[in-house]
Amino acid sequence: MRTTVDIQNEIMKLKKERDVCILAHTYQTQDILEVADFTGDSFALSKFATEVPQKTVIMCGVRFMAETAKILSPEKKVILSHPEAGCPMAEQLTAEELRTLRKKYPECAVVAYINTTAALKCECDVCVTSASALEVVKKLPQKDILFIPDCNLGSWLEKQIPDKNFHFINGGCPVHMQITPDEVDAARKLHPDALVLVHPECIKEVTEKADYAGSTTGIIKFAEKSDAKSFIIGTDTSVVQHLQFANPTKKFYPLSKQCVCKDMKLTTLVDVLDCIKGEAGEEIELSDEVIKKARISIDRMLG
Ligand code: 13P
Ligand code: SF4
Repeated sequence: MRTTVDIQNEIMKLKKERDVCILAHTYQTQDILEVADFTGDSFALSKFATEVPQKTVIMCGVRFMAETAKILSPEKKVILSHPEAGCPMAEQLTAEELRTLRKKYPECAVVAYINTTAALKCECDVCVTSASALEVVKKLPQKDILFIPDCNLGSWLEKQIPDKNFHFINGGCPVHMQITPDEVDAARKLHPDALVLVHPECIKEVTEKADYAGSTTGIIKFAEKSDAKSFIIGTDTSVVQHLQFANPTKKFYPLSKQCVCKDMKLTTLVDVLDCIKGEAGEEIELSDEVIKKARISIDRMLG
């Protein structure tokens, strides 16, 4: 029987031979992160996608991440690691609906979370990730902001940028939104010395109870730098595992065992191998017009 290490070794050998770069979001499983050329949050992956020298990129994550890589590197072959791996939040609004909203709020800068379809990226003014949102929105000249689609990330921003007027739609991440304030209280009771670190996709009542809210890289950096010895992690439970691997002297606990993104978990290590062989995944194809239009809003974020 093939072992994890056998498959990983084959991936390492083949990706070199075939000039393939593997990018993996931190919600991927540990076996996949170990064979990746780069791992990180959405912002870090977007930046890295502009710099990779290889001609083929396999994005282990969800569709909007592979689309972002394609928009930034149209000359490369970009493969989404599993064709069905989407982000349910990315499709909570259509381009048509956004055009209607623009008419309703003509004074607003339209800020789109990067967890959106390429079609929405063509219609917005600027994209943000959870890691870049604060800095990008603060710098916008407009006082009025229409933030799509995540109203939870939006209200986290609103609290920190009180001089802007925010408007939201009713969107959000179904995975992070399940975490309840009661779960924060229960976890604190169980681990009284631990700090609570959450993703800003959690509802306001949860982020308000946390010691820190930030992107997945933000959470990882905070835990690594902190003098505290234990942490309750309010994001996908894979992050708990990665943190525990990387920091053996500290302890990490999931805030909620429900917080597992099923789309992120569709990709297996064998899928990654088969993607390199050209037997799995989906090549991302976007029209020149979409790439050109969507790139403007991503470039504005990258600065
Ligand atoms: P990050 O920007 O922290 O990578 O978040 C992406 C995401 O999909 C979180 O649910
Ligand atoms: Fe989308 Fe939520 Fe999954 Fe992130 S965790 S990819 S926002 S469904």
